[in-house]
Amino acid sequence: MLDNLNNLKRTHNCGELRPEHAGESVTLMGWVHRRREFGKLTFVDLRDREGIVQVVFDADKNGEAHTKAKQLRSEFVIAVTGKAVMRDKDTMNPNLKTGKVEVLAKEIFIFNEAKTPPFEIDQTRVNEDTRLKYRYLDLRRVKMQDNIRLRHRAALTIRRYLDHNGFLEIETPMLIKSTPEGARDYIVPSRLSPGNFFALPQSPQMFKQLLMISGFDKYFQIVRCFRDEDLRADRQPEFTQIDIEMSFVRPEDVFKTLEPMIAEIFRLVEPKVELPFPRMTYAEAMRRYGSDKPDTRYGLELIDLSAQLADTEFSLYKDVLAADGEIKALNAEGCGNYSRKDLDDLTEIAKRYGAGGMAYIKTSSVGEVASSLSKALGEEKVTELATAASSKAGDALLIIAGKPAVVAASLNALRSEVAQRQGLINPNKFSFLWVTDFPMFEYHEEDGRYYAMHHPFTSPRDEDLSRLESDPASVRAKAYDLVLNGVEIGGGSVRIHSRDVQRRVFQALGLSDEDARAKFGFFMDALEYGTPPHGGIAFGFDRLVMLLARETSIREVMAFPKTASATDLMIESPGPVSPEQLAELHIKIVE
Ligand code: AMO
Repeated sequence: MLDNLNNLKRTHNCGELRPEHAGESVTLMGWVHRRREFGKLTFVDLRDREGIVQVVFDADKNGEAHTKAKQLRSEFVIAVTGKAVMRDKDTMNPNLKTGKVEVLAKEIFIFNEAKTPPFEIDQTRVNEDTRLKYRYLDLRRVKMQDNIRLRHRAALTIRRYLDHNGFLEIETPMLIKSTPEGARDYIVPSRLSPGNFFALPQSPQMFKQLLMISGFDKYFQIVRCFRDEDLRADRQPEFTQIDIEMSFVRPEDVFKTLEPMIAEIFRLVEPKVELPFPRMTYAEAMRRYGSDKPDTRYGLELIDLSAQLADTEFSLYKDVLAADGEIKALNAEGCGNYSRKDLDDLTEIAKRYGAGGMAYIKTSSVGEVASSLSKALGEEKVTELATAASSKAGDALLIIAGKPAVVAASLNALRSEVAQRQGLINPNKFSFLWVTDFPMFEYHEEDGRYYAMHHPFTSPRDEDLSRLESDPASVRAKAYDLVLNGVEIGGGSVRIHSRDVQRRVFQALGLSDEDARAKFGFFMDALEYGTPPHGGIAFGFDRLVMLLARETSIREVMAFPKTASATDLMIESPGPVSPEQLAELHIKIVE
């Protein structure tokens, strides 16, 4: 027989009991975390969202409650009335916040039973698919409760900060038309307009710009965005942005206004966050790290050896340099004793990023040099390269030659691998970096055309505008990213506010006036009605909270995330719809 709630009122949360509550009568409600029997005593760890407290049922003092407690199983939902008391010194549990006290039970009420859960609630090594299928149980874990609570506190911090700084939160529609952010759209059929489709927003980009044209000046929104793209640990098909736009600003103003907000969020977990955040141009980041989102918690910067090898006769390097390629290296400090296998493993990583191979010069702790280049370049040149790269006894110089993009990508991968192997990454450090002046366009060889590196509403830098048609590859944008520990946590730009420049950028992207009109006619029109200079940014809220919670996947900070193949295992979606629904939408499934 189950009990009813009746007039029973909770007096405390389980996790909140402390020595100062000793002597008080309490009524607690929660889930049975664990039950243990000790002769005439039954111990129940009772859990609610604030934590766990030990409840004691004593057969001698309260036979009825003790007998009833024997029915309890994990995850039963109960209420207990009783008295909070201090534990004996030798039974205090320092691992529990409530560990100095316990509750002597007087009465117990069983509100509900529970099947044996598919995994123990505090078990951490559960297969992720099982966790996602039973997410409501997974979310009972203390770590998940902490993460979700941290997410809430971060959102509150953001809202308070932005409100205090004059920003208005304005909602924008979810059923819209495609906004180009570079991913595929999720589309939604329209019943009332057969054959036509809405797109779910990849971001509110055009709406926030329209709000600037409307004169709202400072806008923000904590907003869901949808992108049908290949997923990774830090990508989900629906995710949340802190979307922000401001009028009459340069990139500098955006940084100055929003850095303190980011600092405030991170101060929820780390008191030392220094401002201003360092800045680096895209060109410098690529040169020094081979990445536009370098992890700056450690050094391991790339070293250009092209000058030292400019007059080489070694045909492989000669050809690379003749074809405008690069020869760059990474000095892996303390890796001079790497075995053949270690070096083969690193070579495999480099190859995954397109490198033809990896050369090395390793110097043992007693100064003996071994190099894969000795034959090709001669001992003298090898020593010269090691010296030029400040590669000392005990170090290994890892060298990659090839097209700049391949050299950058493979050395970036090696950099992070070496940092992990050598324990160079301080997991408790937050290293922020603004990366600025991104190129306006990137060329995709397979399509033979340029794409916007950020999005097509991003303004070119004033001094580069004249080269928009003649040399698009050299045009830099007023675009920036905020990077934290090698993760892109935000991206934004100053926008185009002139219709003429917008038209020229569309043209550079291969979009004719008619195409542009068909896709963005409303927006082109709006630009002609008094558009202020404006700019903004969107931060990836899930990624921010992931880093805040020191997790490595955004799934750990989302209540109900999807799997890596964009499915929801709990509600089993996506799923089929009935033939009637399809007919109503005028949709036919083609196998
Ligand atoms: P962008 O495309 O750079 O810019 O997105 C902004 C930030 O959103 C986060 N993000 C994601 N997080 C989780 N899953 C995803 N699939 C995902 N995609 C992006 C990243 C990223 O830095 N409208 C522009 C912003 C602007 O120009 O103001 C935009 O959406 O942290």
